[in-house]
Amino acid sequence: MKKVIVTGGAGFIGSHTIVQLHAAGYSPIVVDTFVNSDRRIIGRLERIVGQKIPTYEVDCCDRDAVEGVLQREADVLGVIHFAAHKAVGASVKNPLDYFRNNLGSLGSVLEAMLGSGVKLFVFSSSCTVYGQPDTLPVTETSPIKAAESPYGRTKQMCEDIINDVVASGADLRAVTLRYFNPVGAHPSALIGELPLGTPENLVPYITQTAVGLRERLTVFGNDYPTSDGTCVRDYIHVLDLASAHVRALAWLQARTGAPPVNEVFNVGTGRGTSVLEAITAFEKVSGTKLNYTMGSRRPGDVIETYADVTKAQEQLQWRAKLSIEDAMADAYRWQLALEANPL
Ligand code: WQD
Repeated sequence: MKKVIVTGGAGFIGSHTIVQLHAAGYSPIVVDTFVNSDRRIIGRLERIVGQKIPTYEVDCCDRDAVEGVLQREADVLGVIHFAAHKAVGASVKNPLDYFRNNLGSLGSVLEAMLGSGVKLFVFSSSCTVYGQPDTLPVTETSPIKAAESPYGRTKQMCEDIINDVVASGADLRAVTLRYFNPVGAHPSALIGELPLGTPENLVPYITQTAVGLRERLTVFGNDYPTSDGTCVRDYIHVLDLASAHVRALAWLQARTGAPPVNEVFNVGTGRGTSVLEAITAFEKVSGTKLNYTMGSRRPGDVIETYADVTKAQEQLQWRAKLSIEDAMADAYRWQLALEANPL
């Protein structure tokens, strides 16, 4: 039995990782508070995987509750930790909430793991830890810059916490995945991104504009020193990102007897896409004309970033297979499905 605890398993990346874990023969178990996700996603996940998914409504900041899940499930192989607040803008307004939740949940989960003898850990980090890279593509040894937001700072601090726990000699083997920009949805259109309120991120704003929920998309700046003046990102399909977690777990399983470790991997496509190129890709696959306008820059935006994914390719035997067009097509199908059959 290869039981894997997925904290934040009802969320955007967590739910897609549940699907990929199941497909790879693991038995995923969801731990979620549903504070930033919808419990009805669990039923949709069960439709996709064709069986029940054990689910615990637990706050990861509650160490005893997390340890209770690990004890109850007995032979847990490892933990994939997604549960965290992740909105850049909200973190600026509520920094203490972000530090309490993101650092507290990590600490409680790690304590519960060590107290239960669970040794394998995959952590959800972000390319935001690099800030504006000096050189591109970004490698895992690119400098960690001063974070642009409390959200980004919590990701940097969480990585430091894991490193310190490993350095203490604790019996922990960890992989830290630094995501670039997750986009898209499961092709079944049963699960996808569910932003609360007005989307901060580009792709859900595009799809909500396309179905008329938003009047128009504002492009935040077209006077940047890039090919077309708009910011460049590495947009990775959420299914490819989810698969990277499965490969990370396999990498850890192969090192069960090895010394404690926290290995960092960039997870992206290795390609940069500008905002205008993303819009063009959406219009192409949707067959619609997007209503957008040029606006002023958004404070805190990095100009250009995309990943060097050599390390993940070589050590995880993983690479992204899906394109920005695939992601836009899946994201649009998901948005249309939400309109037709709300959760
Ligand atoms: C992408 C580009 C915007 C909205 C953040 C976090 C990262 C991860 C993903 C959690 C930028 C432009 C956006 C809009 C626009 N978070 N844009 N109009 O900021 O690169 O990354 O979200 O996992 O850690 O840092 O993503 O989608 O917000 O922006 O022009 O209405 O789209 O300026 O250039 P970002 P994003």
